[in-house]
Amino acid sequence: MKINESEHIKINEAKWDKWAATVDGKSKRYDYLRSVQMSVIALMDLKDNISILDIGCGTGFALGQVAKRVNGKGLFTGIDLSEKMIEKAKENFKGKENFQFLKANAEKIPLENNRYDIILCTNSFHHYLHQDNALKEMYRLLKPGGNLFLVDPTVDNWLIRVISRSRHLFGRDKVTFNTSKEFGQLMTAAGFKYLEPQKIVYHQKVQIGKKLMS
Ligand SMILES: C[S@@+](CC[C@H](N)C(=O)[O-])C[C@H]1O[C@@H](n2cnc3c(N)ncnc32)[C@H](O)[C@@H]1O
Repeated sequence: MKINESEHIKINEAKWDKWAATVDGKSKRYDYLRSVQMSVIALMDLKDNISILDIGCGTGFALGQVAKRVNGKGLFTGIDLSEKMIEKAKENFKGKENFQFLKANAEKIPLENNRYDIILCTNSFHHYLHQDNALKEMYRLLKPGGNLFLVDPTVDNWLIRVISRSRHLFGRDKVTFNTSKEFGQLMTAAGFKYLEPQKIVYHQKVQIGKKLMS
């Protein structure tokens, strides 16, 4: 599917702004997303005063869960393309000064270099038009020694391959799914040491990249 950048952004902003109205409620789809987030958080080595950035954070659920595990101590930052998601996230964490939420495209994030111990990105990456640029941003923002935890449907799985093909044929928005091998190549090209992906819930895998100490 051919699409220009501004059209892609416009379609995605409208789509996710619409989702924002219901995403904090109960539904099978949202329960699924929450359980993926919980299972990847369970793999993290979390300590008080951690700094974590969630890219494509939605309304901030994952950051809230991480904060509970570190006694609320740390820096919890979320960025999302959708203005409405960010508005809701700000509302959800009102009065908590160590939570910050910004509307931004994952491909160009207005935050300083080497700032985060952990970067999380769940079920958002296949919506990025230039995935290589998003990974370069993730690498730039991580502290040396920090880890990226990226969960996205991989086309290692036949069901995701079928969904991916039908999305290409019938979807309005452009999505790009990768195999784990392609994730390895993309992450390595962005500078990461690519670690073995780990299986989490519902046939999903977490792709882990480490920014090595220089
Ligand atoms: C399916 S939701 C997943 C939200 C959350 N990460 C989760 O696991 O529940 C995808 C999210 O990615 C965000 N998103 C899509 N394209 C983006 C982009 N280019 N930059 C930043 N966020 C983006 C959407 O606004 C939406 O909040």
